Amino acid sequence: MDNQNLQRTLAIIKPDAFAQKLSGKIIDRIEQEGFSIIGIKVLHVSPEEAAQFYAVHTGKPFFDELVAFLSSGKIMVLALKGIEAIALWRKVMGATDPAKADEGTIRKLYGSSIGRNACHGSDAPETAETESNFFFKPEELVP
Ligand code: RTP
Ligand code: MG
Repeated sequence: MDNQNLQRTLAIIKPDAFAQKLSGKIIDRIEQEGFSIIGIKVLHVSPEEAAQFYAVHTGKPFFDELVAFLSSGKIMVLALKGIEAIALWRKVMGATDPAKADEGTIRKLYGSSIGRNACHGSDAPETAETESNFFFKPEELVP
């Protein structure tokens, strides 16, 4: 089969999960699910950078909380590659609200509320590209 949809996606281990030292467990899951990690770094973004990253949500009721949370501590960003990587990573993360996420998903396992939901994943090829470029220079990715 040569027409499988090989994609990239951008994953973030959010401040709640990073601070709880869950990065190793989440990376293990990423690898068990078959993704290739092609870029990885630890960052502490400013509120301005967090607002830019989540600009699509500007003006929504939860925006200020979202920006404050993403900039509240260290995060790990990962560029992932795999077959149908965007949808697969969102499936592995689970629903946005951990209370509604399926058993065994990362958000169900490690999230504590809709705001503190352990991880992020791109939602489309265009956002995956934009989000990856937000955190990684081309030469920092090793495909
Ligand atoms: P993410 O972008 O972080 O991967 O999450 P998502 O696609 O599942 O959800 P999205 O709609 O993009 O929302 C981004 C983040 O905003 C917070 N949120 N809070 N209180 C609320 O109703 C609400 N809705 C969204 C969540 O932390 C979500 O991850
Ligand atoms: Mg989203």
